[in-house]
Parts: sequence; structure tokens; C-alpha cells
Amino acid sequence: MSTQPFYTLDDLSRWEEIAPTLHLPARLAVIGDPIAHSRSPQMMNAALAARGIQAQYIRVQVPAGSVKEALRLFTLNGFVGVNCTIPHKFEALEAMDEVDPLAKKLGAVNTVRIRDGKLTGFNSDGPGFLRSVEEAFGKSVRDLRVLILGAGGGAGRAVAVQCALEQCPELTLVNRSPAKAEPLAAQCSGLSARTKVTVCRWDDAALRAVMDQTDLIVNATPLGMKEGDAPPFNLALLRASHRVFDMVYRSGAETPLISAAKTTGARTR
Ligand SMILES: NC(=O)c1ccc[n+]([C@@H]2O[C@H](COP(=O)([O-])OP(=O)(O)OC[C@H]3O[C@@H](n4cnc5c(N)ncnc54)[C@H](OP(=O)(O)O)[C@@H]3O)[C@@H](O)[C@H]2O)c1
Repeated sequence: MSTQPFYTLDDLSRWEEIAPTLHLPARLAVIGDPIAHSRSPQMMNAALAARGIQAQYIRVQVPAGSVKEALRLFTLNGFVGVNCTIPHKFEALEAMDEVDPLAKKLGAVNTVRIRDGKLTGFNSDGPGFLRSVEEAFGKSVRDLRVLILGAGGGAGRAVAVQCALEQCPELTLVNRSPAKAEPLAAQCSGLSARTKVTVCRWDDAALRAVMDQTDLIVNATPLGMKEGDAPPFNLALLRASHRVFDMVYRSGAETPLISAAKTTGARTR
């Protein structure tokens, strides 16, 4: 396993010095900014070890605007796959040679395959979300009225489109910049005649009006990643009838949203 908490774009540009110091060759990586919180290396390195694959998965901090350059350096240095997290999922989509049809629909790329110098983009956020909801709540989004906070981001957009593809009965999109939610709402409406798609303003009064018609609240903003972050919405609006899915995870600790949901009696799993 890597002893580094994370590498940087600078490190990638002098990888020929770093590579010989590694106990296993680095062939896979996750990029983001921030990236130190990512638990992907723990999961992926355990999977590689279980399969007896002599390679490791590392974290690389890449600033916004540098995804294309980072992917060029990964390709040059023999990497075969890269995951992209906040805020790179749209930039990654633009950098691909080929995009898988689902990733195209979801409008974002979180997984890149590098083969023969060619970059192919995939998205596992949508399918992963569906599976997690079924595992956590024993229900499909087909039977849930879903509200997404942060619907305009890479993860939120993927979840919204995936919910429409599953024909969930109601989909409420909430985003800090409303201009991003409107075209997404039009896309989701076009994908499912069954789904009533609404854009909701991000304020207490507007949220209060829709919360009673919501079964599943999804936080797809980064709020909760950092100690001291404000909650994504007024937590007094939570009801025991809600199911709460926080896409934010924290190393070894519950997010404030999940703690508040448990206190209210809402389901978190
Ligand atoms: N658990 C999982 O499997 C999983 C998978 C993917 C992502 N995630 C997590 O999901 C979160 C979002 O990731 P992403 O890749 O979608 O990021 P992103 O593309 O940068 O999108 C962030 C979203 O959050 C909104 N936002 C950002 N800061 C905000 C603030 N201070 N107040 C209100 N809204 C704010 C943005 O609104 P604007 O449009 O107005 O900028 C945007 O909608 C991250 O915590 C990431 O780690 C988890």
C-alpha cells in the first residue's frame, strides 16, 4: 500500500522518480480536490490483494482545470484506470476519446479506462446509487418520491437522470444555482412520462412545501465533508417518514445529516 496520504499533479509529472520507490506499481488512481478524505484506496487495494493482482491504487490531488493534463500523465506512466470525484466529473467527460452510453446520458464520468492510449469514460454513480438505495431501504426508487439537493453537480445529476430512467413517481431537484436545475429537469421529464419533475427553490418555505411529498432525501452537495459545515438544509424539516441518503461520507464518523435523521426517527438504512 502507498505510504503517501496523497500525491499531486507535480508528483505525476516526475513519476519516473517516484515509481521506483513504490513497493507495488501504481496502476490505478482516484483524482479529486480535495482528495485526502477518499477511502477508495482502502477498498480498491483490498480488492487487488484479494485477487492477487500486483498493483496498487493511489490518491492524486488534481486542481480543477487540470484533468486533461493529469490523464495525459497517467497514460504516459502506464496507469490503466482512474476514478474521478469532486469536482472533476464534468471535466473528465470532456476529456474522453469515447463515452459509454449510460455515462453520456448521466452527463458525467467517474471512471476512466485507459487502453492503448485511448480514454473511455463510464459512470458508476447512478447504478451504485440504485443498488445502495435497495440495500439500505429494501425499496427501489421506482416506488419512491425523491428530492435531490445539489442536483446540478456530477453526482446529483447522475442520480437525477438515473431516477428518471427508473421512472420514479416524483423527482424534486434543488440546486444552489437554479440555472443548472432547469435543463436537467427538462432532460429528466423527457426520459420518463411517469415522473413528475419539479425544480424547487433552496429556501425553507419552498422546501417545507415539498418535504411532506418526499420519501427519499438525497444530499449530493459536498456539505458535511468538512467539520463545521452548515447542514444542507434546515434539519427541522426532517420527518420520521423520510429516508435519508447522504452521498457525503466521512472517515470514521457519521455526517451531521445522518445524525440528525436518526434523532428524528427518519430511516438512514
Ligand atoms: N457516496 C458515493 O458513492 C459518492 C459518489 C459520488 C459523489 N459523492 C460525494 O458527493 C458530493 C458531490 O460530489 P460531485 O462530484 O457531484 O461534486 P460537484 O460536481 O462539484 O457538485 C457539487 C454540487 O453541490 C453544490 N454545492 C457545492 N457547494 C455548495 C454549497 N456550499 N451550498 C450548496 N450547494 C453546494 C453544487 O451547486 P452549484 O451547481 O450551485 O455549484 C453542485 O450541485 C461529494 O461529497 C462527493 O464526495 C459520493
